[in-house]
Amino acid sequence: MCGIVGYVGDGPVGSIVHSGLENLDYRGYDSAGIALVDHGSDGLAITKREGEVSGLDVPSVSSATCGIGHTRWSTHGPPTDTNAHPHTGMTGEVAVVHNGIIDNYAALKEELIADGHEFTSDTDTEVVPHLLEQRLEAGDDLQSALESVVDELEGSYAIAAVEAGSNRIVATRHESPLVVGHGDGTAFLASDVTAFLEHTRDVTYLQDGDVVVLEDGTVTITQDETPVDRSIETVDWNADAAEKGGYDHYMLKEIHEQPTALRQALSGRVNLNDGTADLDLGFPSGFLESLEEIQLIACGTSYYAAQYAAGLLEHVADVRASAQLASEYTFEGGRDPWRTLTVAVTQSGETADTLSALRRANGAGVRTLAVTNTLGSTVTREADDSLFIRAGPEIGVAATKTFASQVTTLALLSLFIGRERGTLSAADARSALEDLRGLPGAVQQVLDEADTVREAAKTYVDASAYFFVGRTYGYPVALEGALKLKEIAYDHAEGFAAGELKHGPLALVTDETPVLAVLTEGTRPAETLNNVAEAQTRGSPAIGIVDGTVETNALDVSFEVPSLGTATPLVANVYLQLFAYYIADLQGRSIDKPRNLAKSVTVE
Ligand code: F6R
Repeated sequence: MCGIVGYVGDGPVGSIVHSGLENLDYRGYDSAGIALVDHGSDGLAITKREGEVSGLDVPSVSSATCGIGHTRWSTHGPPTDTNAHPHTGMTGEVAVVHNGIIDNYAALKEELIADGHEFTSDTDTEVVPHLLEQRLEAGDDLQSALESVVDELEGSYAIAAVEAGSNRIVATRHESPLVVGHGDGTAFLASDVTAFLEHTRDVTYLQDGDVVVLEDGTVTITQDETPVDRSIETVDWNADAAEKGGYDHYMLKEIHEQPTALRQALSGRVNLNDGTADLDLGFPSGFLESLEEIQLIACGTSYYAAQYAAGLLEHVADVRASAQLASEYTFEGGRDPWRTLTVAVTQSGETADTLSALRRANGAGVRTLAVTNTLGSTVTREADDSLFIRAGPEIGVAATKTFASQVTTLALLSLFIGRERGTLSAADARSALEDLRGLPGAVQQVLDEADTVREAAKTYVDASAYFFVGRTYGYPVALEGALKLKEIAYDHAEGFAAGELKHGPLALVTDETPVLAVLTEGTRPAETLNNVAEAQTRGSPAIGIVDGTVETNALDVSFEVPSLGTATPLVANVYLQLFAYYIADLQGRSIDKPRNLAKSVTVE
């Protein structure tokens, strides 16, 4: 997730774009840049750099009436000055900013290089200005050049471009947001309205495939080269609400962003032809085949994602796999460092406990892999390889979309390793990949039931404690459900392996302790249901997440999920996120910044 800003009109263009970027920095804050059309020099004036927008200088130009800007959350290429947007091609006549992922950039880049183009960044975006230049050289104007170029792109994108000597911005979108602001003789463009709310509240939300031209305060929108009328709406949100996309809290917004986050995690990685995951990992040849053990090290929510993944790895890659709490990790004897892979799972990439465990693994001579949301983070610099979960920035302290993206990315990793080791057939891999591809839609179905979850939360908000249970992949999800509830609602919540209830925790059960259970296919739902019944007999209300695998009429509340094989508990988890959110909201808790907690824990 990145932020795009554009402005055409009078006044200090550079400062207007800069302040728009500052308003969007919640969309990404690892690098930023601005391109202004400089009518003094007849060229483009560009400043860009690694770091937050506040540290970015506005390009100094004698006269500009048009400019674009970008605040970045890296997905391809670490946050460096050269990887920051805007990007230019060979001639420097066109500058481009982009939000999203261009899946087929590697193939396009290869063709461009064969045609003599030279690249300066590691980004997927840089192919776009090169392709635009080719079209401009062939005689197109910027608008028709962009129309032709997007026909070549696969993936999701919002793209805005400016050209030296002209006074207009041309932009388009496909599965990434873009909104136009209508001023008085001025026009704005942005990833969301927060960027320009102080200038105008009259907006047009662009649709997929729209190409918009902003010029001299006029806005023209076409679709398939035919002009279209899009309505102008007046935004009545304040800036704070707009930044949260109209949701009351970042956490709720991020829960609802999961379909997009999951699409991004999967983008360009699902290879149904070969029945494998395309992951750009540089393991030495023969390494995976001779692997004897995979250790996943992590903390908190990331640890539960690691636990889920350890099950998947054992299942499809036929390798001993374990999740270990980073703060407890030691590299003990009996292991062959040459046949061990240690995977550090950390969304921030900066968690001190995880880094310290990674250093112990590195010290033992083990090959290490970072699975993280943050390009350029410490973990990516210290591990041998990195795999990015592409969830976009997560502002709420409680991890939600990053958990979903971690599990999904680790599921892809397990399929990749299974295929490399020859323990997983192409047919079985294809079926698992299809399940993963079903995740965004399935999660959306759960999100559409949010009101039902809020009603259930109203019934149980006065409970004295909440117990979450599950088996197999439902167990880490139960642990994660309990963690979410305790951290944002400050209520007592515990997750148990369902079979363990009767070995002690059952003593805690009363009619004031709801039990929430994952009862989906592949999680041994019949046995879990028996354990739930044992609690129900002692008065506990029972809430189940079900997919029709077992008869669940006796439950007090059922939430339904579609079946997606081993990915189903990940979908079930979305109900638990919503349940925790509404329990906390009904109690007026500080949901985005729970007491005593921090987003990134950089002390051991
Ligand atoms: C819980 C939560 C924490 C983190 C943990 C590890 O909602 O966010 O438990 O999961 O602090 O953080 P990362 O993934 O950044 O290493």
